[in-house]
Amino acid sequence: MRDLLDAALIAYGNAHAPYSRFQVGAAVRTAAGRIFAGANVENASFPEGNCAEASALAAMVAAGERRIVEVLVVAAGERLCTPCGGCRQRLCEFGSPDTLVHLCDPGGLRRTVTLGELLPLSFSLDDDLADQAPGTAIDAIQAAAPDFQPRIGLILGSGLGALADDLEDAVAVAYADLPGFPRPTVEGHDGRMVLGRLEGLPVACLQGRVHLYEGVPASAVNVPVRTLKALGCEILVLTNAAGSLRAEIGAGAIALIADHINLQGQNPLVGANGDAIGPRFPDLSEVYDPALREQLARIAEGLGVELASGVYLAVLGPSFETPAEIRAFRALGADLIGMSTVPEAISARHAGLRVVGLSVVTNLAAGLAAGPLSHEETLGQASAAAASLAKVLRAFCRELAGG
Ligand code: HPA
Repeated sequence: MRDLLDAALIAYGNAHAPYSRFQVGAAVRTAAGRIFAGANVENASFPEGNCAEASALAAMVAAGERRIVEVLVVAAGERLCTPCGGCRQRLCEFGSPDTLVHLCDPGGLRRTVTLGELLPLSFSLDDDLADQAPGTAIDAIQAAAPDFQPRIGLILGSGLGALADDLEDAVAVAYADLPGFPRPTVEGHDGRMVLGRLEGLPVACLQGRVHLYEGVPASAVNVPVRTLKALGCEILVLTNAAGSLRAEIGAGAIALIADHINLQGQNPLVGANGDAIGPRFPDLSEVYDPALREQLARIAEGLGVELASGVYLAVLGPSFETPAEIRAFRALGADLIGMSTVPEAISARHAGLRVVGLSVVTNLAAGLAAGPLSHEETLGQASAAAASLAKVLRAFCRELAGG
C-alpha cells in the first residue's frame, strides 16, 4: 500500500485546486501491478473540474490498461475523503465490488473499504461503515495468527519455497488476501506468507516473490518487507537462485551474498520518503550483516556444508545475459548474478532490518558453460541444493531461538 500512497502523495502535491483549496491525490494499481496516479484539476467553472480518481483512471486507460485491483485516495482534513458518486461509478467500470479503496491523509492510512461498500452511498461513508476496521496486510495477518510475533522473515526464491512447508503450527495467508502485497506470476513462486516455528523460532516465510521484470515498480517490494518489520521481525533472510560468474562456484553450490551491485536501474525507495520508516538517504556500506554472515559460515562448516561467498549483481531480466555482458560484469567485480533480492535488501536496510542473503547457484552464467540457459534448469538445480540450504537455515534458527 505504501507504494500507492507514495504515488498518490506526489500527485496530491501537484494538485491544481486554487478555488476549493482542497487538494486530492489518487492512485490505482492495475492487475498487471502498474500504478497510475492523478490529482484534482479545477478551473474557474467549478463543475468542469476533474477529480483525482478520474485523472488516475485516464492515465491508466491512455497507457492501455483496463483492470484495477486497488485504489488509494489522499487528502488532508478531519473528514475522510472518499471518491465522489461519479468516481465510484468510474472505478466500478474497471474494478469489482471487492476492489480495496484505501482512504488516507498525508500521514498515512485512515481506513480501507471496498468499492462495493462505497457504491450504495452517494458521497461520504455512513457512520456504520466508518467504524469498520482498516483492511491492511498487518490486520489480515494478525487476524489469521493472533499474537504471533515472528523474529525473522525469510523470502524464499525460485524452487526454495519448500522450507515453509516444514514450519510447525503453520498458518498460511495467500498474498491475494494481503492488501498491497504484489503477487508473483512466475512458475516456482507460490505467493503466500506462512507463519510458524522453525526449530522453535517464530518465523514468517514469504513463499514466492515478485520480480521487477514482471512489470511491478521497485517500490512494490516495500510492502512485504515493511510488513515483516511491522510484525516484529529483526532479521530478513533473502534467498534466491543465481547464476555464477566463477567456474569454482558451480551449479548446486550455495553462496553467502557478501555485497551487491544494483544494475536494475531502479530503486524501491524512489518517491516520497516514509520518514517514520527510515532515512531519505540510507547507508548501504554493510547491507549484508557481517556478524550474521560469520555465524552462517560457522554453522555451515559445522554441518559439512560448503558455503561460498560472493558479490551478487542484480539485473532487470527477464532475458538472461549475453556472454559479453557476463565478461563485463566480471570486470565490475560480480561473482553471482540474478534478477531479485537487491530491491528487498535495500528496502530492508532502509527499514532497519538486519539482512542476510543466500544464493543457490543453478548455472554457470552465459558464455561460461556450453549450451543455452533455461528457467527449467534454474528450478531443477535449486531443488537439488535446497536441502543443504534448509539444513543451514534450520541450524541458524535453532541458535537464534536459544540465544
Ligand atoms: N542470470 C540471471 N539470473 C539468473 C541466472 C542467470 O544466469 N541463473 C538464475 N537466475
